[in-house]
Amino acid sequence: MNSALLSFTDLKTLEADQLSALASLHYATMPTLLSELGLPLLHRYYQLAQHQAGCLGFLATINGEAVGWAFGSKNPGMVTRLLAADRVWLASQLAKVFVNNPKGILLLAGALLMPGDNSIPEGGIELTYIGIGRNWQGKQLGRQVLDHFIHAAREAGYSSIILSVEEDNSSALHLYATAGFKTIRQYKEGSYHRRRMLLQWMP
Ligand SMILES: CC(C)(COP(=O)(O)OP(=O)(O)OC[C@H]1O[C@@H](n2cnc3c(N)ncnc32)[C@H](O)[C@@H]1OP(=O)(O)O)[C@@H](O)C(=O)NCCC(=O)NCCS
Repeated sequence: MNSALLSFTDLKTLEADQLSALASLHYATMPTLLSELGLPLLHRYYQLAQHQAGCLGFLATINGEAVGWAFGSKNPGMVTRLLAADRVWLASQLAKVFVNNPKGILLLAGALLMPGDNSIPEGGIELTYIGIGRNWQGKQLGRQVLDHFIHAAREAGYSSIILSVEEDNSSALHLYATAGFKTIRQYKEGSYHRRRMLLQWMP
């Protein structure tokens, strides 16, 4: 894969259609709790994150096609709280989802009632989401997107990156371990078996 073809656009400067492409990519690529709750909710999440201080994200494109993204925050709960603040809109979205996906609502309730100990080290940032479009996986793009996130985090003055990954996600585990992330904790979250990993550097 010719890395010269790959370009990155900061989340803050994404146009509306690029933001939609990012949300769609997340929806299609990553089975997270947020994607269980539907594309409109995901789209709103990134819309809110776009204007929040302490968020770091970008869209990766090749010849204008959205191929990957990464998003992190020094306070990931903040965006979720903003999402939940518009209760009327949220309730209408959840009601729509409930018809087709009662499990998604139960997972959400579980996450809200029993939040895990996913604190972020002082001066650090969480890499909350990273993904590569299905047709583009296995071409070293994940590594380049991760490298870009690490570089951007260092440039922004963070001293570490922390993330959670599922135990059976072998490609992601390999990617993180070879980028220098160390496992600091293994835990269970609902039906998920997860691993918390940390990459730290000296200032
Ligand atoms: C995880 C993900 C980002 C990796 O991106 P990618 O572009 O497919 O990965 P790359 O081609 O850059 O490969 C990175 C490394 O993983 C290795 N790898 C790829 N697939 C693998 C697999 N199934 N098992 C083990 N290693 C694998 C590659 O060989 C490469 O290692 P190397 O450089 O030492 O050879 C991508 O697969 C993805 O988006 N998955 C779905 C979303 C997701 O799970 N995100 C992470 C959540 S924590």
